[in-house]
Amino acid sequence: MERNPHYRGFISRSSLFCMFGFTSIIFIFSWFSVLRSTSRPHSVDLSILPNSKLFAVVENGNSQPQYQENIQSSIPNMSVSVDYEEEVPQVKKLIKCNPIKVVLKVFMYELPPEFHFGLLDWKPEGDSVWPDLKTKIPDYPGGLNLQHSIEYWLTLDLLSSTFPDSVGARSVVRVHNSSEADVIFVPFFSSLSYNRFSRLQPHEKKNRNQLLQEKLVKFLTAQEEWRRSGGRDHVILAHHPNSMIYARMKLWPAMFILADFGRYPPTIANVEKDVIAPYKHIIKTFVNDSSGFDDRPTLLYFQGAIYRKDGGIVRQELFYLLKDEKDVHFSFGSVGKDGINKASQGMHSSKFCLNIAGDTPSSNRLFDAIASHCVPVIISDEIELPYEDVLDYSEFCIFVRTSDAVKKNFLIKLIKSIKKEEWTRRWKKLKEIEKFFEFQYPSQEEDAVQMIWQAVARKVPSVRLKLHKSKRFSHKGSKRKRAIIAIPRNFGGR
Ligand SMILES: *[C@@H]1O[C@H](CO)[C@@H](O)[C@H](O)[C@H]1NC(C)=O
Ligand SMILES: *[C@@H]1O[C@H](CO)[C@@H](O)[C@H](O)[C@H]1NC(C)=O
Ligand SMILES: *[C@@H]1O[C@H](CO)[C@@H](O)[C@H](O)[C@H]1NC(C)=O
Repeated sequence: MERNPHYRGFISRSSLFCMFGFTSIIFIFSWFSVLRSTSRPHSVDLSILPNSKLFAVVENGNSQPQYQENIQSSIPNMSVSVDYEEEVPQVKKLIKCNPIKVVLKVFMYELPPEFHFGLLDWKPEGDSVWPDLKTKIPDYPGGLNLQHSIEYWLTLDLLSSTFPDSVGARSVVRVHNSSEADVIFVPFFSSLSYNRFSRLQPHEKKNRNQLLQEKLVKFLTAQEEWRRSGGRDHVILAHHPNSMIYARMKLWPAMFILADFGRYPPTIANVEKDVIAPYKHIIKTFVNDSSGFDDRPTLLYFQGAIYRKDGGIVRQELFYLLKDEKDVHFSFGSVGKDGINKASQGMHSSKFCLNIAGDTPSSNRLFDAIASHCVPVIISDEIELPYEDVLDYSEFCIFVRTSDAVKKNFLIKLIKSIKKEEWTRRWKKLKEIEKFFEFQYPSQEEDAVQMIWQAVARKVPSVRLKLHKSKRFSHKGSKRKRAIIAIPRNFGGR
């Protein structure tokens, strides 16, 4: 950011928070306009607003989090009858001059270790179901498993969120009273469970992955927290497209964290309700990259598997269109051990990197390209991208419709038309935003871990709205309360 002060589109930390604050305020306003249109205009009083837990704030640079229950106290009296157009810029200004950091309050179930760190062969000592992070952090298996390791990083971040010496930026804090939480986190390492235990062992009737999911459904639906919300405020990780396949039809009112929606019907998962998280890239980060346009000999790079089904057919068509082009590297084959090194070299020395839909719309190749500062060319009509509500991918990616990409010469012409200046703009932008896609422990400001928590936080107002609506006809003591769980068809983004 310092390197390019004139760079406008970049999201700085404060503008991110501003944006979030602003969105929340817009939400309040829109809520008011709804109230206004349905009730007498001047009868609405600000005091009817519940103390929004979402508005818990922590001052910048203060290592000891202080929670202010209600931000309204710091906003000048807002009268509902005030003109919407007039009031918003004022509030926006207020947030701008007084940047606040929103901290998501999360309650985490104390699930037995077999659901999380036990899958990493960690054994509990004493009564705690959690490892003592101050003595040893359980290792995560390397290689391709790492792509879907968000479950591990988010859980570590949550566990360490209450350490007194946790300094700097925090986007999340673990609370032990679920009534005080914005969301309820379900610490099931579902991708790891799929990767390690989805194959049936001899003498097993069901594989362990399926058994764990069935156990999880049983556990969750019996919890007081699940019953009172119908699961709507629960956060469930299902990053690997094949993870949670047994449980998701039963747990779908919850907010899922996913790689894409490829394997989901839109009633079960959709962009309104759920959060898209990046893959962890497996290509080496390009540290101190001074390899600009003229230093990258390959024009266009693609390395991947051939898929014959669904959107994957376009890979073969593109292969025949591009295979004889000069300076194009296009080859099939999965990434083995040596493959990762080769792919790192390949992407680090290419100007553009192709991302073509495979058997699902997303793949880790996009995040490998970002880490390599190789301008991504995305050919995947159904792709959903992480944090796209706050990040404009068109500033550093090229999107091509599949129907265009398979036209003769279309793609190569388009790419050749992007000259050094425009390419360099995107390359610089890539170097600015790459941190949003880095997973690490301890988490750092604006890394993937914190960006994901913030994306969850942005969903909280709509979760609340649905929750409150669902309570309209559920009188105390009536059986309707259970009906929230029994008739989930009333719910859903579409
Ligand atoms: C806000 O309203 C309260 C109660 O109506 C009043 O006591 C207070 O002075 C008002 N504050 C401002 C800044 O107008
Ligand atoms: C949890 O929080 C709620 C609401 O703030 C409060 O009423 C309740 O007493 C708390 N429970 C415990 C065990 O502290
Ligand atoms: C990157 O540059 C910094 C500062 O110039 C230097 O300290 C660091 O060692 C470099 N890292 C690598 C991996 O080259």
